[in-house]
Amino acid sequence: MKDRKFYIETYGCQMNVADSEIVHSIMLDNGLKPTEQPEDADVIFVNTCSIRDNAERKVWDRLKYFRSIKRTVNNDMVVGVLGCMAERVRDRFLDQEKLVDLVVGPDAYRELPNLLEEVEDGRKAVNVILSQEETYADITPVRTTGNGVSAFVSVMRGCNNMCSFCVVPFTRGRERSRSINSILDELRMLSDKGYKEVTLLGQNVNSYNDNGKRFAELMYQSSLVDPEMRIRFSTSHPKDFPDELLHVINERPNICEYIHIPAQSGNSEILERMRRPYTREEYLKLIYKMREIIPGVSLSTDIITGFCGETEAQHQDTLSLMREVRYDLAYMFAYSERERTLANRKYEDDISEAVKKRRLTEIITQQQGIQEENNKKEIGRTHIVLVEGTSKRSDEQLNGRTDTNKMVVFDRDNYKIGDYVEVEIIDSTAATLIGKPIRTTTIADFNTHYAMA
Ligand code: SAH
Ligand code: SF4
Ligand code: F3S
Repeated sequence: MKDRKFYIETYGCQMNVADSEIVHSIMLDNGLKPTEQPEDADVIFVNTCSIRDNAERKVWDRLKYFRSIKRTVNNDMVVGVLGCMAERVRDRFLDQEKLVDLVVGPDAYRELPNLLEEVEDGRKAVNVILSQEETYADITPVRTTGNGVSAFVSVMRGCNNMCSFCVVPFTRGRERSRSINSILDELRMLSDKGYKEVTLLGQNVNSYNDNGKRFAELMYQSSLVDPEMRIRFSTSHPKDFPDELLHVINERPNICEYIHIPAQSGNSEILERMRRPYTREEYLKLIYKMREIIPGVSLSTDIITGFCGETEAQHQDTLSLMREVRYDLAYMFAYSERERTLANRKYEDDISEAVKKRRLTEIITQQQGIQEENNKKEIGRTHIVLVEGTSKRSDEQLNGRTDTNKMVVFDRDNYKIGDYVEVEIIDSTAATLIGKPIRTTTIADFNTHYAMA
């Protein structure tokens, strides 16, 4: 195995990004070296996503490409599929398509070194066993994203919710939480290394439960580790939002005032069919409570359009919900039927692709308008921005996010990646704020000067 190089390509959600960092660490521990070029690699891992059909199609195309490199460049190259598709389509990868040598599900990455050896011995290797316990708590991920400033920390895995449209419970297994102490240790280590922001991750991060220690406590404890290190979290479910959690978010200055709170639909009947455990009214009540307890909180959502049986009027309910909440950000998708889910077994995927597409365009267009208006209101305000990188458009500009998760671009001057900068907003678009940098600052200083009543 010595001197061999590995390459990892990651699709899907932040959990997959975090998992790839675990795999990276396991590979380094086994003497492999990373490469950025698949053509140079001895081992290629594709960490996959099954959430929608188009996510899977992208992976099939990439696997065909990797097979072609294998044939032309390096016949001994090992191609492995990791992540959610490993659970869903394991047999097809191996038997029918002969595209890959290795299929490993999200709870079996510790086995990767052994499985690679099996492949070296000329066998195909598979491990897609889902675990009730695995959290990789003792493996320190090798951070490959975030510029040494921002890190993902996964705190729980799996999902017990069984929303009727969703494949995640089948690909990720049951919910389990990492111990609060192992998380706090990792946060201390990140703070010592100079990280300025961590995002606590889980499919339902607010269902966190370490033997009765719940998410509000984890957030509170996390915020105490380093008052100058920002805490974010993703992704949360409307069913687990006790007031206590909202108060912790409001009261701790380094917990960001931004909540991703997927609604999925604005119609109660569709929500019931989706097996989301709330009505439109209950969801809105929660939103109002969030805004009351955390003034100025920024909110984002996920929306599925064209779910089984969705009428035009029900689609209008989604549009009106989005107008009522006025989200700062929304991830919007056309419904994609997934095998094994309840919706697949019980309901017909009866909305045509054309109608799904039209409805999706309608919600996207409306949302863009709302974001444009929301962002215009930011002009003249001052924010604390954590510098994350160089702007894609110009080397002379930096970018970073406000506490409320809005992307700001401003002139580099003498500011550096990892600085907190006080920035005045001077212009905006639907996606970005344009700022004028004023001075470097700290969370503590900024809050004394700009503490809102
Ligand atoms: N655990 C997260 C969601 C993870 S999946 C949560 O419950 O908030 C991210 C988003 O993908 C979901 O919120 C949903 O909007 C979308 N999604 C999931 N399954 C889908 C499907 N079958 N078709 C279209 N979008 C889907
Ligand atoms: Fe999927 Fe629902 Fe679980 Fe989110 S909460 S991962 S949408 S089953
Ligand atoms: Fe995709 Fe799996 Fe994440 S299906 S969204 S990679 S949990």
